[in-house]
Amino acid sequence: METLIESTKEGGLPRAGGCEQLENDYPVASNPRGDPIAMLTSKMQEALNAQLNAEYYSSYLYLSMSAYCESIDLKGVAHWFLIQGQEEMAHVMKLFNYIVDRKGEVRLQAIDGPPTKWDSPLAVFEAALAHEQHVTERINKLTELALAEHDHATWTLLQWFISEQVEEEASLDVIVEQLKLAAGAPAALFLLDRELGTRTLTPAPSGG
Ligand code: FEO
Repeated sequence: METLIESTKEGGLPRAGGCEQLENDYPVASNPRGDPIAMLTSKMQEALNAQLNAEYYSSYLYLSMSAYCESIDLKGVAHWFLIQGQEEMAHVMKLFNYIVDRKGEVRLQAIDGPPTKWDSPLAVFEAALAHEQHVTERINKLTELALAEHDHATWTLLQWFISEQVEEEASLDVIVEQLKLAAGAPAALFLLDRELGTRTLTPAPSGG
């Protein structure tokens, strides 16, 4: 008797009309099991793995910023960046779980080392804001790719990341502006440090 596995090896699973043409236009990714019905195209899988690496780098960067703020005795700001780094790890896991759920292959790559020093608390937050703007560009490009690949599931996942980027850029922008207002006023910096030290982790939904 023909098993389901044998049937799929021969490409025997029933497919809706037009699927063969779609497969030619959008080649599917391979995965370790060699599943014949991978749910991501090769291009989409590669781009999602690259974004997973970029989110890891974000976590690394914020951990490094936290260490710098510890070194200048801004413990509240250091705590804020520690939480930021943990949020980035939640983004990593969101992508990891999504690739797995789509029967894709997670390909972890080396993570670049982030800078370790900045000129001032304002310079740290300006660098963090510039980094998030860069991440937003990446997410926008990923979303355009999902559209081009007709990958509606990935497009839906990316809507969450788009909203997250709006929030992250807005919160960093507020802190940058407050630091500019506090320039030359140590008491204001002290108060801001205390306020940022109260941040708590808001876990991201882990699923796709
Ligand atoms: Fe996950 Fe702040 O980008």
